Amino acid sequence: MHKIKLGKMELDSPVIPASGVFGYGDELKGLIDYKKIGAIVTKTLTIKERKGNPQPRIWELENGLLNTIGLQNIGVERFCEEKLPVIKKLKKPVIVSIGGETDDEILLCLEYISKKDIEAIELNLSCPNIAGRNLISENPEATYNIIKQARKITRSFLIAKLSPNVTDVGETGSAAEEAGTDALCAFNTFKGLTFDWKNHKVILGGVSGDAIFPLSCRLVHQLYQNVSIPIIGIGGIHSPETGLLMILCGATIIGIGTSLMINPDLPGEILNEIKKYKKEKNIKKWDEIVGRKARFF
Ligand SMILES: Cc1cc2nc3c(=O)[nH]c(=O)nc-3n(C[C@H](O)[C@H](O)[C@H](O)COP(=O)(O)O)c2cc1C
Repeated sequence: MHKIKLGKMELDSPVIPASGVFGYGDELKGLIDYKKIGAIVTKTLTIKERKGNPQPRIWELENGLLNTIGLQNIGVERFCEEKLPVIKKLKKPVIVSIGGETDDEILLCLEYISKKDIEAIELNLSCPNIAGRNLISENPEATYNIIKQARKITRSFLIAKLSPNVTDVGETGSAAEEAGTDALCAFNTFKGLTFDWKNHKVILGGVSGDAIFPLSCRLVHQLYQNVSIPIIGIGGIHSPETGLLMILCGATIIGIGTSLMINPDLPGEILNEIKKYKKEKNIKKWDEIVGRKARFF
C-alpha cells in the first residue's frame, strides 16, 4: 500500500482507530497489528481529569452499541507526562482528540496540547454524552466560531469531529472548512435511546456499530459533495466491503470504533479488500479511489 497523505502526515494505511476505543494508543498492543493502521488516535482528553458517567455505560444492542461514557479521561497534563512518551515509541503519527464542556475548556486544552510534538489535533465537537449543552457541531455558527478561535491558537493540523445529528451535514462541514479546519472527521455517534429493564430507566446515549453504517456512509457521501478538505469517514464500518465503500463514497481515511473491539484484524482485512479493488480497476493513485462512487451518483 502506498503512503496516504493527510496534511504533512504520511500514513502507512488509510485505516485508523476511532477515538475512544483505543485508550491512549498502546492498550491494544499484542492484539492489533500496528503496521495495518495509519495513526494512533487517543481517547478524547479534557483540561481536567473526568470520571465520566456512572456504570453501566455500555449497552449492547442487536446490531451495535449505545454508550454513555461521558468523556472519562486522565486529563491532558497526565496524558502528556505518562502516555505520550510511550505512544511516541510506536513510531506512528499521533492524533490527539480533545474536548470539553465549554468552548473555553476546549480552547485551553488546545493551547496546552498544541505546544507538544504531535502530528494532529482532533476537536471533538460532537460528544453526545455531556450533560447540559447542545453539541457544538449541531450548529454551523457555533462550529465556525470555535474553529476560528482554534485557528488563532494553533498552526497544527486540525481535524473537526462532527455530529451526524443534524439536518444538513453539508452546512456544518462547510462552516468548519470555511473557519479553517484542515480535515473533517465524520462522524461521532448518533443520539439514541435504550431501556434498562432491570432498573426501569431510560438510557440516552450514542449509538455506534453495524447498525449506523448505511446512515453514516450516506452522510459522508453528502459531505464529500459539499467540502474539498479530506474526510475521515467513521460510523459502523464492520467488514472489508463496508470499509471500501466508505472510501468510495468520499472518505480519504476511514476510522473503526466498535468493530475494532470485536475484530482487531479488521484493518488488515480492509487493506486486502482495497488492494484487490485497486488491482481489478487498475487504480494507481489514492485520489482515484476516494469518492469514486460519489462522483457518479
Ligand atoms: C465506547 C466508546 C467510546 C467513545 N469515545 C469517544 C471519544 O472519547 N471521543 C470521540 O470523539 N468519539 C468517541 N466515540 C465515538 C467513536 O469514535 C466513533 O465516532 C463512533 O463510535 C462511530 O464509529 P463506530 O460505529 O465504528 O464505532 C466513542 C465510541 C464508543 C463506542
